[in-house]
Amino acid sequence: MVDAFVHDVPAARVVFANGAIATVGEELARLGCSRVMLVSGGPEAQYAEVIASALGDRVVARFTDVVMHVPAEIAARAVDVAISAGADGLIALGGGSSTGMAKAVAKETGLPILAVPTTYAGSEMTSIWGLTEGNRKTTGRDVRVLPRTVVYDPELSVSLPVQISAASGMNAIAHLVEGLYAPGVSPISFLQAEEGVRALASSLPRVVADPTDLVARGDALYGAWLAGWTLGTTGMGVHHKICHTLGGTYDLPHAPSHSAVIAYATAFNAEHAPAAMAGIVRALNAGGIPCTDAAQGVWDLARAIDAPTSLAEIGFRAEDVDEAAGIVASARPTNPRPVDVEGVRGLLAAALSGERPGAGTV
Ligand SMILES: NC(=O)c1ccc[n+]([C@@H]2O[C@H](COP(=O)([O-])OP(=O)(O)OC[C@H]3O[C@@H](n4cnc5c(N)ncnc54)[C@H](O)[C@@H]3O)[C@@H](O)[C@H]2O)c1
Repeated sequence: MVDAFVHDVPAARVVFANGAIATVGEELARLGCSRVMLVSGGPEAQYAEVIASALGDRVVARFTDVVMHVPAEIAARAVDVAISAGADGLIALGGGSSTGMAKAVAKETGLPILAVPTTYAGSEMTSIWGLTEGNRKTTGRDVRVLPRTVVYDPELSVSLPVQISAASGMNAIAHLVEGLYAPGVSPISFLQAEEGVRALASSLPRVVADPTDLVARGDALYGAWLAGWTLGTTGMGVHHKICHTLGGTYDLPHAPSHSAVIAYATAFNAEHAPAAMAGIVRALNAGGIPCTDAAQGVWDLARAIDAPTSLAEIGFRAEDVDEAAGIVASARPTNPRPVDVEGVRGLLAAALSGERPGAGTV
């Protein structure tokens, strides 16, 4: 029997090809934009130059002060720059931090975004924005921040360092795992999430073995696209609430936090989401990660690519477990297994240790 569902997919045009960066000019024209602000972070500068020289005077402003988790005062400055330059569109080039900065501008101005993602974060496929004030990160959904066009060019991800690629890939796995048991899951999103896990499980070890392998890079970016789409259409669970708290309150890095927690969140939910667990096991095996338990398979994938599997390893402290568990539980995240302080404390303690989860629950 098919469970009841709502399938609500916001429209974005997706162009996926090696060398697709060359299409940015014509894609902008399709959007009717002729005066854009180009948003990009530091290491992506080489690609920003390619776009800027192809577009010439259609780039009326550049914004390079890109900081993870989008500090509100920097976002306000980006809004000012876009308005003063009379921009009629935004290009977000880079990882989730660049996309996040462009989204903060779109939220205030309504300007359309063309995104050129270079990590596996997936923000380019969602209408979710985030802003941080002090140690409080706020997120919300607004269709105005959903990029209208996404240009995926695997060649741009070749320069992404191996360690960042591995953690970012596990960030994408986390979107897919939670998408499989999220309240908004539909038959289509289930299929796409399972396919995303397979694509990433099969490609990430090849990316790590040879970061210049364009076939592997393409397969990983394809998985990341499916992951972003899943994140944007299904809603998430306790894992994303934990990582939101780790980033916003404890300033832990985004992708490594996801990597360190997702196997334990999978174990936490195992008994309450059997269909999702079966899908994860199927996809990991199809992708070349042999397993019979979803949480163990996710952990094995992270280890195979040397991505973080322990919160201690990325700077989280045992003395913060109780407070973090309280913050997460009081947010009452929607999740297959009911979320209480005791449960989150156990999940965080397991993630802190980094030991391979046992089959079953934490
Ligand atoms: N709103 C959403 O739907 C959503 C989804 C996922 C992530 N996010 C947000 O995105 C941020 C994290 O994104 P991220 O993990 O992509 O990190 P990031 O954008 O900060 O990138 C990580 C690092 O990789 C570098 N980099 C990116 N592309 C590169 C390339 N091609 N070559 C060399 N270096 C490159 C960046 O400059 C940065 O130093 C967080 O703030 C998170 O909250 C939002």
